[in-house]
Amino acid sequence: MRLKLVGIFMVLALAGAGAAFAHSGATGLVKERMDAMLEIGDSMKSLGRILKSGPYDPEVAIVAGDAIAGHAGEELTELFPEGSLQPQSEASPAIWSNWTAFRDYAGDLKSSALALKTMAEQGADSLALADAFGELAGTCKACHQEFRIKK
Ligand code: HEC
Repeated sequence: MRLKLVGIFMVLALAGAGAAFAHSGATGLVKERMDAMLEIGDSMKSLGRILKSGPYDPEVAIVAGDAIAGHAGEELTELFPEGSLQPQSEASPAIWSNWTAFRDYAGDLKSSALALKTMAEQGADSLALADAFGELAGTCKACHQEFRIKK
């Protein structure tokens, strides 16, 4: 359980880091994808809350899983047209030289978010949910390491 909690704290730090900076000046799709990422971050925070401090509430997990899935897969990749960079953007140009890997991460994000949602719907306990949460967090981290340049 301890390892899972470490993962949860890591993600909370990760989700909060972006929110601390207002990306003023970003426009259009770049702004849209930043907002989408912030919403994903908020959903991870609410998951962290019910899994860490409790009480575990499956409804919260279902809503969060659904929200993340809604910003993943194609909904995510279509916010990254080739060369869409602005000074405020933290997107790495590697996204477009390694598009398949980027798209795969976006797909993984969708499938792990949907898996978590389904587990919550089917009455899985919070330990099982914490596993699914760890899975999701791993996808955030992997994609960020490869394709996000922290400013
Ligand atoms: C497919 C790759 C990918 C996945 C998966 C991904 N991200 Fe991101 N994320 C990015 C990229 C690229 C940026 C930078 C976007 C920009 O600035 O143009 C970003 C930015 C962010 C930001 C900063 C938003 C801002 O502008 O303030 C947060 C917060 C964030 N992601 C949270 C998450 C969380 C939490 C997850 C997992 C549940 C996740 N991301 C999954 C690629 C990804």
